[in-house]
Amino acid sequence: MRRSISSVQSGARRATILPSYFHLANTMTFTISDASYGTDTPAAKETMYADLRSQLQGLLAGESDFIANTANFSSLVFNTMPGLNWAGFYFLKGDELVLGPFQGKPACIRIKKGRGVCGTTVVEGKSIVVQDVHAFPGHIACDVNSRSELVVPVFSNGEIIGVFDLDSPLTSRFDDVDAAGVESLVKVLEAAIVA
Ligand code: SME
Repeated sequence: MRRSISSVQSGARRATILPSYFHLANTMTFTISDASYGTDTPAAKETMYADLRSQLQGLLAGESDFIANTANFSSLVFNTMPGLNWAGFYFLKGDELVLGPFQGKPACIRIKKGRGVCGTTVVEGKSIVVQDVHAFPGHIACDVNSRSELVVPVFSNGEIIGVFDLDSPLTSRFDDVDAAGVESLVKVLEAAIVA
């Protein structure tokens, strides 16, 4: 759908609210240091994911372009969630995943279905939390600093079309609350894809 000038302008206005959200994020109980992260509660995480959902809805509202939305999704998550060193998409092309929009260091470009955490997520069709990547057989190390990982499938019309991958330099950075939280963000994206 072609966007009118006024909708582009309203998108720009929406974007200006992001810095205030980053300020809000800084006041949350989440911190980047390993020591304080361990004290964070599920309730604090749920508050963060509720705020992220709301920000995401604003960012994606009225925009159906796939690359624009997945790029902004990656940026919002990477720049808001503490303790990440990579966040981005891989999309299925035939029997392999191909790198999509992301934030972080350059990453592996192609991953065969069934390989690594991302390829295994495609086969299983559900999120995978890896507390220690060294203990996951076949883990693909795009960045030697990564210690834990969360991969969430992305669906369109009931079919898996790719994954959203988050990496952390902290061991056990992600848990089931994070998996459910990121799944709820991906659902906002999926709604925008079919919009
Ligand atoms: N670690 C992933 C590969 C992708 S990178 O982490 C960005 C995996 O094992 O599938």
